[in-house]
Amino acid sequence: MNPLRPVILAAARSPRVEQVVTRAPVSRDIVRRFVAGSTRAELLPVVRGLLATGRCVSVDFLGEDTTDRAQADATVAEYCALIDELATSIDDPVDSAPAGAPVRLEVSVKLSALGQALPVDGASIATDNAGQICVRAAAAGVWVTVDMEDHTTTDATLAAVTALRPDFPWLGAVLQAYLRRTEQDCRDLAGPGSRIRLCKGAYREPVAVAYHDRAEIDDSYRRCLEILFSGSGYPMVATHDPVLISEVTARKVREGGPANGYEHQMLFGIQEREQGRLIGQGIPVRVYVPYGDRWFSYFMRRIAERPANMAFFLRSLRSR
Ligand code: FDA
Repeated sequence: MNPLRPVILAAARSPRVEQVVTRAPVSRDIVRRFVAGSTRAELLPVVRGLLATGRCVSVDFLGEDTTDRAQADATVAEYCALIDELATSIDDPVDSAPAGAPVRLEVSVKLSALGQALPVDGASIATDNAGQICVRAAAAGVWVTVDMEDHTTTDATLAAVTALRPDFPWLGAVLQAYLRRTEQDCRDLAGPGSRIRLCKGAYREPVAVAYHDRAEIDDSYRRCLEILFSGSGYPMVATHDPVLISEVTARKVREGGPANGYEHQMLFGIQEREQGRLIGQGIPVRVYVPYGDRWFSYFMRRIAERPANMAFFLRSLRSR
């Protein structure tokens, strides 16, 4: 694992570093590699372009760790407006897809942006807020998946998803293969109709709860994927790792894939050629597309994932 990763991930939660990085003139160009724009108006052409290439999308309005009720409410309002615009302004009718194909439009939400960290009733406020977004999404024919944040929120996030799924059975959740608990979570959640996005995990976690060794994380990912692929839900394979992706493809050739299908997912700006290659093979690919001004923490996690990104970022800072 990149030795600088824990340092960068710690910085990702520092208001002081945020001030420095977001005020540096460097930020715009590099951030644009991973973030589709600041506003919905900047986002929508990007989404249209991705849909035109056969990709599905999951749009994330950036923001997390909200400690202010008004900001949580504003985030709900933005998601509702986003869902309406996605559904009406994109020339890609949601119901034109063949039976069994994935819904091409999705939004991803972080419960900490919806109030989960508020000091009073945070969990229930965030669940209600996510429910409001689901109501709007259901009316528009858009899917919703709840992102997973650091391990201190895993139980509350899964409880919120469990509480909402009876009304919104298509609601998805994210599980992180680096957490030691996740194999069991996969067993618990691989039931009929479930949509689980399996990623490796992007936060700084203690060794007591998370694997730190790359090979251990990859092996956990394989075990979790096996559980999800043998279950009766719709697995979402969220990784850019070429080895894991080729194992999934080989498994599909060998065993035909899960009965209800599956999809690959990647982040905006990463492995675009691989996305195109999978689409060329007829395998659905969804791109996770973030937008908004509160890009700092998301951006720092992307920098932490790859030493080359860090080097590029530092070079850009020095050259200004
Ligand atoms: P790994 O980090 O091993 O990278 C494999 C290869 O992918 C690298 O060698 C490189 O080529 C490429 N790559 C990976 N990251 C890159 C980067 N930043 N820039 C350029 N190339 C890169 N995490 C989380 O904790 N909660 C969540 O809710 C989500 N949600 C989510 C949704 C989707 C659709 C995806 C794809 C990922 C997430 N993640 C996430 C992030 C995830 O946990 C993980 O941090 C990243 O996907 C990187 O891990 P990989 O699986 O790609 O493998």
